[in-house]
Formats: sequence, C-alpha cells, structure tokens
Amino acid sequence: MTPRAESLGNGFRARATPFARGRRLRSTPALRRLTAQTRLSPADLVLPVFVKQGIDEPVPIRSMPGVVQHTTDSLRKAAHEAAEAGIGGLILFGIPSEKDAVGSQADAADGIVNVALQQLSADLGDELVLMADLCLCEYTDHGHCGLVTPARGGVRGQGGELVVDNDPTLDRYAAVAIAQAQAGAHVIAPSGMMDGQVAAIRRALDGAGHTETPILAYAAKYASGFYGPFREAAEGAPRFGDRSTYQMDPPNADEALREVAQDLAEGADAVMVKPALPYLDIVSRVADAVDVPVSAYQVSGEYAMLEAAAANGWVDRQRAVLETLTAIRRAGAGTVLTYWAVEAAHWLR
Ligand code: PBG
Repeated sequence: MTPRAESLGNGFRARATPFARGRRLRSTPALRRLTAQTRLSPADLVLPVFVKQGIDEPVPIRSMPGVVQHTTDSLRKAAHEAAEAGIGGLILFGIPSEKDAVGSQADAADGIVNVALQQLSADLGDELVLMADLCLCEYTDHGHCGLVTPARGGVRGQGGELVVDNDPTLDRYAAVAIAQAQAGAHVIAPSGMMDGQVAAIRRALDGAGHTETPILAYAAKYASGFYGPFREAAEGAPRFGDRSTYQMDPPNADEALREVAQDLAEGADAVMVKPALPYLDIVSRVADAVDVPVSAYQVSGEYAMLEAAAANGWVDRQRAVLETLTAIRRAGAGTVLTYWAVEAAHWLR
C-alpha cells in the first residue's frame, strides 16, 4: 500500500492521525502569501468618478460616504492621486446642469464629461486608462438610458404610454462615442443595455478614425436594486417606470452568456458583469466562457451596504472590503470597478 492509500484508511487505527493536513500551508503569513491563488493588485482596480457642472466645491454623496461629485479641479487632483496610487484607471460619469429629452450634453464638445476627459488626458497622458461610461441617463430629463417615445405597434410602455426606444437611441450612442473618443477617452464603456449598441458604437468610432479605441461592454448588466446610491451620485434616476425593460432580469443566468456572446460578435474588446458581489456566479460563468478580459463593477449599493455596516462597527471595514475585492477577482474578473479603488491600492502597498 502507498502511504497515501494507507492514510485513507487511517480511521481504522486506534488513534487517527490525519495524513493530509490542510492546515500545513496556512500556518504562517509567509506560507499563506506564497500559496494564495488569487492576488489583488492596484493595477486591477478602476475608480468610478463623478464630475458635475456648475459647482465650486466637491459635493459629498450622502448615501456613499467618502464619495463626492467632483468639480473639474477636484477631479484633476483626485486623478493625480489615483495615478500615484497605481490603480489601473478611472471611469467617468458626467452630471450636466441642463438636461433635455435627448441628452444633448453627453456629446456636446463643451459638455462637462468631455471637458473633464480633455483635461485628464492632457494632465495624465497614458498614466491611467481613462474610460468613459457611455449612457444617456445622466443627461436626459426623463432619466432613462435611451430616447423615450410613445408606445406604438403593440410595444408595451414603461409607465403606461412611453417606451425607451432602442434603435433611435443607437444613433445617439454613436454620436456620444465619437465625442468621448475625441475628448480623449481611451476606452468607451457603453452601459445603456440597448440591443446593437456595441455594433453601432464600433461602426461610429471606426468611421471617425478611432479604430484603436477599445470598447468595454457592460454586457451583463442587471436591473438591480443596488444602483440606488448611484442615482443620487449621478442624478440619473428614471422619472417614470424603471429599467427592467432593457437591463437584465436578476433571475437569469444563461442569458448573461448570450448577452456577452452578442457583444463580442458586435466587436466588444472586453466585457463587464454588473453588479459584482450578488452576481459572482455570473462573473464566474462569463470568465469561463470567454477569452477576452472580464471586468466586474462593484456598484454603489455594494459600497453603501458595507460602509454602513462598518460605520456601525459591525464589520472590520478594511478586511471586509479587501475580502469582497478578492472574491470578485477569485470568481474570475481580471478588473474590478470599485469606489474603494484608491484606498484599497494604498492598503495593498
Ligand atoms: C447607467 C449606470 C448606472 C450605473 C452605472 N451606469 C445606473 C443604472 O443603470 O441605473 C450604476 C453604478 C453604481 O450603482 O455604482 N448608465
């Protein structure tokens, strides 16, 4: 008998001495570090940032302690700090003073997000990857991610008579993508969940000469209750109805793979799952299924939930934050979008 096989039978001995001991490799910090299967480093993290038009001072977001709506100046400072901390990148959300039905400020050259992109790309060059979230909800007066039209031809309405109209929205997304790339965005990240959005954006970018600008598709984005605090931060809550006719339904898993496959077929260079922690099964399945980089977005409600618990002294904040980030990486995400990106980067150093 080999020692290994013998050990399997050691229950028959008078005094059972385990042969296999999982504890051996856990016994010192050095051994645990050496054998850790998942590593987290600052370069894996992307910080979402909000920049608001018409404010002189950063405005704290009540439901996200530690997160602010930036002025262009405070954003420049925060971006420098992020670069110093060694994180992978930033993703920008703009909040314009004027909103309208078509979200004109999203692609206005002097729109707040495009001005901020210009400044950051001039300040930082390639030091950080500058991502532009591409959506209309922060820019439309109705707060939906696409154009809203009266329901017609048997299309069921949100709030009764209005629908978010897929195909006309694609033309808007195309224009916004060009404006963002022009302004200096290194990556375009469409989050509106309109069908065909990646193809429309790829075609537009290529047509405008931005053939080298990658698209990170929010491919599997769920209609989630965990976006609540973000809507305060980005001032983009829908005025009527909700987003469940375009974002994915939380019970569905196979459909995420279909959304991902579709976005890749349309030319996405990388894909995202969102939210992260309540959808680790989706992160894992997507990571297994594709051979492109996978990101996961740890959203505002995930942040708020843990901050609230930590503020009450119910969890050890740093430990819990790093555990969530590690779990998201362990599930298969290479990149994590997180409001803790810079702070976590400091902890990891
Ligand atoms: C919409 C968008 C949302 C988030 C990122 N992009 C909100 C939504 O879909 O309602 C949520 C991010 C977060 O909650 O942190 N363009």
